[in-house]
Amino acid sequence: MAAGRPTLNPDLIALTGIKPSGEPHLGNYLGMIRPALALAGNYRTFYFIADYHALTTLHDGAELRRLTRVIAATWLALGLDPERTLLYRQSDVPQIPELAWILSCFTPKGLLDRAHAFKDARAKNQEVSAGLHFYPVLMSADILAFRAHAVPVGRDQKQHVEICRDIALAFNHVYGDILTPPEPLIQAAVQTIPGIDGRKMSKSYGNTLPLFAPPQALRKRVFQIQTDSSPVEAPKDPDQAVVFQIYRCFAAPDESAQLAARLRAGGLGWAVVKQALADALERQLAEPRRRYQQLLADEPELDRLLADGGERARALAAGLLDEVRRAVGVR
Ligand code: TRP
Repeated sequence: MAAGRPTLNPDLIALTGIKPSGEPHLGNYLGMIRPALALAGNYRTFYFIADYHALTTLHDGAELRRLTRVIAATWLALGLDPERTLLYRQSDVPQIPELAWILSCFTPKGLLDRAHAFKDARAKNQEVSAGLHFYPVLMSADILAFRAHAVPVGRDQKQHVEICRDIALAFNHVYGDILTPPEPLIQAAVQTIPGIDGRKMSKSYGNTLPLFAPPQALRKRVFQIQTDSSPVEAPKDPDQAVVFQIYRCFAAPDESAQLAARLRAGGLGWAVVKQALADALERQLAEPRRRYQQLLADEPELDRLLADGGERARALAAGLLDEVRRAVGVR
């Protein structure tokens, strides 16, 4: 085993869901995809496409099917190895919604009323479906059906994992240690990058850099990144510049140190940094983009991969469901 590389612990399962709700962008890659792929070195990893969760907001069948393929192709193109990581579609595992119903009977309604996502939707006066209210229960079933120990998520999902723990403990309190209460795995070092307008990169702000846009379109987007209007000669503070913050995430440390020094010295315009960012992105994304397009072009192969993952996932979830059914006294 190489020095410094954590050992794979095959008994520990890390599981996370990806909602197919939009085209993946660089913020998703840095904040979620890259760290999750790295985890496959030290956990048994289960990553799934949360299409039932997307249904709380996306009511267009063709689009949900398309985005499901887009997400699967994205993860595979960026290096997910389906032999090592179990990749599946949530809706291929009927044990999940079945478990969700059972868990709902151990979930205080008030716990769901306090969930941030639900409270936010209500505060914004949005129409709240029962599905949205129930969201944390379905998410708990996703996690508990596979006896996952660690759930790598962003801060916004931490409360949902805590709700899952509470539900598991409430169930176990009645029937004994059947469910595995999970821990959220919030990776401290995870990078969040600003979007082209300086706010957090997010689909809802329309300020993203898409991961797999054609080179020209991506370059054009990079050149739209907001910069101040200081003249070329002026010394510049790289840490205050959005374009440099993004560049740093994709360049080697010595490369970014060099560019930072040249900016501080003055005589370098922002266009040079934008070009350097466009080049760095192209270097890293050209190959994944090619694989992505290949995967999307071969629908039967992608479907076969997902179906295969689904089959393995069902077999695993079936074991836990047998235990749960027996405990509660159904069938
Ligand atoms: N709720 C998560 C999100 O919006 C997606 C998700 C669904 C999930 N089920 C999960 C994450 C189970 C972790 C574990 O990002």
